[in-house]
Amino acid sequence: MTPDLSRWHGKTALVTGASSGIGAAIAESLGAAGLKVALAGRDRRRLAAVAKRIQRDGTAFVVPCDQTRLSENARLFRAVRRRWGAIDVLVNCAGVRGGVSLLDAEWDEMQEALDLNVRAALWCAREAVAGMRRKREGAIINLCSMVGHRVLPGVPALYAATKHALRILTDGLRTEVAQRKLPIKVTLISPGLTDTPWHRLPGGIARLGRPYPHEPLQPADIAREVLHVLALPPHVQVRDILLSGAEQPY
Ligand SMILES: NC(=O)c1ccc[n+]([C@@H]2O[C@H](COP(=O)([O-])OP(=O)(O)OC[C@H]3O[C@@H](n4cnc5c(N)ncnc54)[C@H](OP(=O)(O)O)[C@@H]3O)[C@@H](O)[C@H]2O)c1
Repeated sequence: MTPDLSRWHGKTALVTGASSGIGAAIAESLGAAGLKVALAGRDRRRLAAVAKRIQRDGTAFVVPCDQTRLSENARLFRAVRRRWGAIDVLVNCAGVRGGVSLLDAEWDEMQEALDLNVRAALWCAREAVAGMRRKREGAIINLCSMVGHRVLPGVPALYAATKHALRILTDGLRTEVAQRKLPIKVTLISPGLTDTPWHRLPGGIARLGRPYPHEPLQPADIAREVLHVLALPPHVQVRDILLSGAEQPY
């Protein structure tokens, strides 16, 4: 059954990491569901391609930005606010691996992973909360990973550590929002192996010669979960979703 997102029609969403993979699929699904979608990422050309697909039937605009920099995150929120006011939905999807292994990671790679996967996600969530205070309903969805729940061989522990941190911060955010009685739901989605360009970057599984050890999730599988979360009645909060390909053994 298609989730009923009618109460979100015409509302605004910001999706980070929207130029590629999971973020692009989420942005397109939200656009198809009738939300206006702001797309963030560094690659202007790939963002524009995603926006063009959304604009066939919906509304989208792009904000190219490097989210490892505070000033760029501030510019992102200013740009969205100027166009649409405060957002209703934030999906924090931008992420990097932070080097191919814990023992080999360069300082800059470690810094980038901490800045993007943790600091930028938290900063964007705080900005979003500030704008959602006066709304009847808001949603923040953070993209974690199964490695945010356990450390797996072959996955750099620094990356796992950033996703563990994001999981704890998401719990903390949900608690603070509830204590202040703000009408904002906070959800963590933790996918297993997913077929995206991520695995063709240095350290990715596709570089090992065999594309994938088992059938991965597709980005659309995660986008479907986002729609499911938004479609639930306002009084229902999904806290955690862990999903993986049916063949994933760990
Ligand atoms: N693929 C998987 O197996 C898997 C599994 C579990 C969780 N995840 C998580 O899912 C999220 C999306 O990953 P994906 O698989 O879709 O990877 P992807 O295709 O490589 O997408 C990563 C996204 O992050 C953006 N990004 C990277 N550095 C950035 C920066 N400095 N500033 C702004 N945006 C930046 C990229 O945009 P630009 O290059 O345009 O900047 C891109 O849109 C990540 O948080 C990842 O940890 C992935």
